[in-house]
Amino acid sequence: MGHMKLPILLHPDPRLKKVAAPIEDSSDALRQLGDDMLASMYEAPGIGLAAPQVGILKRMIVLDCVKEEGQPPRPMVMLNPEVIEASDTLNTYEEGCLSIPEQFADVTRPAEVTVAWMDLDGNAQRETFDGLWATCVQHEIDHLEGKLFIDYLKPLKRQMITRKMVKLKRELARS
Ligand code: NI
Repeated sequence: MGHMKLPILLHPDPRLKKVAAPIEDSSDALRQLGDDMLASMYEAPGIGLAAPQVGILKRMIVLDCVKEEGQPPRPMVMLNPEVIEASDTLNTYEEGCLSIPEQFADVTRPAEVTVAWMDLDGNAQRETFDGLWATCVQHEIDHLEGKLFIDYLKPLKRQMITRKMVKLKRELARS
């Protein structure tokens, strides 16, 4: 089956502020959605994408944070991902988001997290992530709660980014 490039919603959009619904069962439709989300993420290019960003309010994320040149890709699809343990040690990364293009800001989060999820075969999975993977998986899980990385910023900075995005969306709508 082919891949479909999914349009990615841009902030501000009410769908990006909603809490996504849990997934009951894995299915072929979700497998296809996972493939399409990964293809859209790689093409953007990005390292993570959550289903609400493509207008689907289900608890599903994809990610691949392999950055090292020559390393094989590691596409991951997670259903109902949940942080079950987080380190006291924190890490600050400059984050961005495919729904907030060209805007970046430092966000501080736990440096290491253990995440539980269901894979596309319906199996329970669990893994501990650190570095960029830890940041990325927390950022994507936040999307399932209707939370964006700019929600961690001071109101003035958040409003500045939102204003820029409103302007960008207006320009895109005109072109
Ligand atoms: Ni994002």
